[in-house]
Amino acid sequence: MIIEPRMRGFICLTAHPDGAAQSIKNQIEYIKSKGSINGAKKVLVIGASTGFGLASRVTSAFGSGAATIGVFFEKPPVEGKTASPGWYNSAAFEKEAHAAGLYAKSINGDAFSKEIKQQTIDLIKADLGQVDLVIYSLASPVRQHPETGVLHRSVLKPIGGVYTNKTVDFHTGKVSEISIQPAQDGDIENTVAVMGGEDWAMWIDALKAANLLAPGAQTVAYSYIGPSLTEAVYRKGTIGRAKDHLEATAFEITDSLKDIDGKAYVSVNKALVTQASSAIPVIPLYISLLYKIMKEEGLHEGTIEQIQRLYAERLYTGGDVPVDEKGRIRIDDWEMKEDVQQKVATLWEEATTENLAEIGDLKGYRDDFYNLFGFGFDGVDYAADANELVTVESIK
Ligand code: NAD
Ligand code: NA
Repeated sequence: MIIEPRMRGFICLTAHPDGAAQSIKNQIEYIKSKGSINGAKKVLVIGASTGFGLASRVTSAFGSGAATIGVFFEKPPVEGKTASPGWYNSAAFEKEAHAAGLYAKSINGDAFSKEIKQQTIDLIKADLGQVDLVIYSLASPVRQHPETGVLHRSVLKPIGGVYTNKTVDFHTGKVSEISIQPAQDGDIENTVAVMGGEDWAMWIDALKAANLLAPGAQTVAYSYIGPSLTEAVYRKGTIGRAKDHLEATAFEITDSLKDIDGKAYVSVNKALVTQASSAIPVIPLYISLLYKIMKEEGLHEGTIEQIQRLYAERLYTGGDVPVDEKGRIRIDDWEMKEDVQQKVATLWEEATTENLAEIGDLKGYRDDFYNLFGFGFDGVDYAADANELVTVESIK
């Protein structure tokens, strides 16, 4: 079957397995080119199939020779329908890891559930004994609470008042004004329930209770801050409340790990094109301007470059882990540089449908978006039949 991108709104319904394989190869090449990292050797990645979690898995495996277990929620291929991108990414990752002699197994299912936590615990017990790093990189619009059964939905809304600003439809390049209605009853609590720290703490509690965390084990979850331009809808909006909760949870987890000398960190990462971020109004316009400036200044990074720097220059330097005044690791430091932010703010005022392709990096945005689904990679023959029914035995 020849696979082409098929768009519906802001999502792509198809994914390309050979493109996903190329994406994994590129990420592995990058990590190898940067040299080895004296990091964790047994790693659990929750949210391992796309974005920052996938980059973390690749960096652990090919930077530190780590055994990895990946947990994610993806759709396998069925006759006539491609798999979701993260499924192909994981299949390709496992193939490369096994070829390099590295242990890699995956669990496909709802990480919020008790069942998937138990399955993961059983697998670690059977195969690894303990883990010394747990990466928590889930991004989900919903969570069914394992105790109450309530289905919580997260929303991206401002708090307290209507937010009006510019946005872009990155497919057409049309710049327009958008107004987002403020959070209503339950929106904040529901968003915190999905994207806050409760599930992270549940994972760590369950792993610790089963004695699966090695002495000195670390756990890292990812957060975002961003500029004042997006503050009302992001950091001071419903999702920001969830990130506040996630960041506070790091301290609670660290307290709970005192007896094994373990530690929990939140790393604040850069704004990047992912399936989640392309659905947030305003953010795509910000990202396309940000990319333009950061590329011009030689500061641009994708997920793999970000996580390589997180490991090599923050977590595994051999010294103390540098953190900000709130205890957070910052790898959004280049995005937040004053001159970068000033230039973005100026372009923001100027941006129109007519000039965006020139003053912003609309092409870079689109390329990244198509790359998420395995499209647009050099070295892939998209006119040829794709190997769409890839199967991987170790994905349970
Ligand atoms: P992503 O959508 O690329 O990855 C999400 C992962 O979570 C996937 O592996 C997916 O399979 C998994 N997942 C979702 N629901 C699941 C479930 N119920 N059970 C098991 N797995 C599930 O997202 P991302 O952009 O890499 O985001 C990861 C983290 O990084 C989030 O906390 C996000 O807020 C944060 N972050 C993102 C950005 C950005 O610009 N994209 C910036 C800074 C921080
Ligand atoms: Na991820």
